Amino acid sequence: MTILTVTLQKGGVGKTSLVANLGCTLATQGKRVLLIDCDPQGNLSTHYGYTARHLDRTLYEVLWGVVTPEEAILTHEASGVHLLPANNNLWALGSEMPRAAAQVPAFMDPDRLIQTRLGHLAELYDLILLDTPPSLDFLTRSAFAWATHLLIALQCEYFAVDASIDLLETLALIRQPERGLNPQLKIVGAVPTMFQKNNLSQESLETARYLYGQHGIRVLDAIIPRTVRYGEAPALGLPAVLAFKGAVRHHYDRLAEEVCAHVSA
Ligand SMILES: Nc1ncnc2c1ncn2[C@@H]1O[C@H](COP(=O)(O)OP(=O)(O)OP(=O)(O)O)[C@@H](O)[C@H]1O
Ligand SMILES: [Mg+2]
Repeated sequence: MTILTVTLQKGGVGKTSLVANLGCTLATQGKRVLLIDCDPQGNLSTHYGYTARHLDRTLYEVLWGVVTPEEAILTHEASGVHLLPANNNLWALGSEMPRAAAQVPAFMDPDRLIQTRLGHLAELYDLILLDTPPSLDFLTRSAFAWATHLLIALQCEYFAVDASIDLLETLALIRQPERGLNPQLKIVGAVPTMFQKNNLSQESLETARYLYGQHGIRVLDAIIPRTVRYGEAPALGLPAVLAFKGAVRHHYDRLAEEVCAHVSA
């Protein structure tokens, strides 16, 4: 059983696209896959064709404890993926929790909230993938706390590489022996996303290899190129690997193979 959190606190680097397409690839290979949308933007839910704002059973209600995860999880027929959706209600949770903490014991420890509410699901799936918001708030920390593994979405440009420095500092704190939030957390590596055949992408990749390498973290061999297909797919309500196949699917097959080799090692 693997709980894989996909992260980088910079916005728009390809986290959600990674979760949607990697999850779909693994599910179509026969794995039992649950995707959890931990981002109030609800983009992961949109990738699978759900209009998140119309849903009244989402991660928000699950974290409050008013519905069970099983009552909120949707089954995506075409891929076999199970999805726990989110919508913009989730923005409010951070400010609601301190006032409600006296009545809702789970709110006493926000960094363990996801684990407290969803922990029992780990036994039901081969792989649980969590999509995080572009921040290091309690939702992201809570996703770090529950994860067995972390995958970093590394857009091949300057600011994403720069944001990696803050992430590496945060990870060092989270993985601190005894005092850290999750000392056992393993890092699969950084996936280069939106790669283009130009000097900027190549130089960013080399800088990232050096930077992550200094912390013993690998930049994966599987690279996700920039193609308009990934931008088009959400409008079709399908992950790109289902909507387009071809090269898109080939890149994700390679990534899935590399990730699986790492998590089962
Ligand atoms: N490989 C790619 N090539 C081209 N466009 C891409 C690629 N991956 C993602 N995109 C597009 O770039 C935009 C940002 O991607 P995505 O939503 O996955 O990033 P994110 O890191 O999840 O963003 P946020 O931090 O806001 O949640 C989206 O419009 C998406 O469709
Ligand atoms: Mg996203």
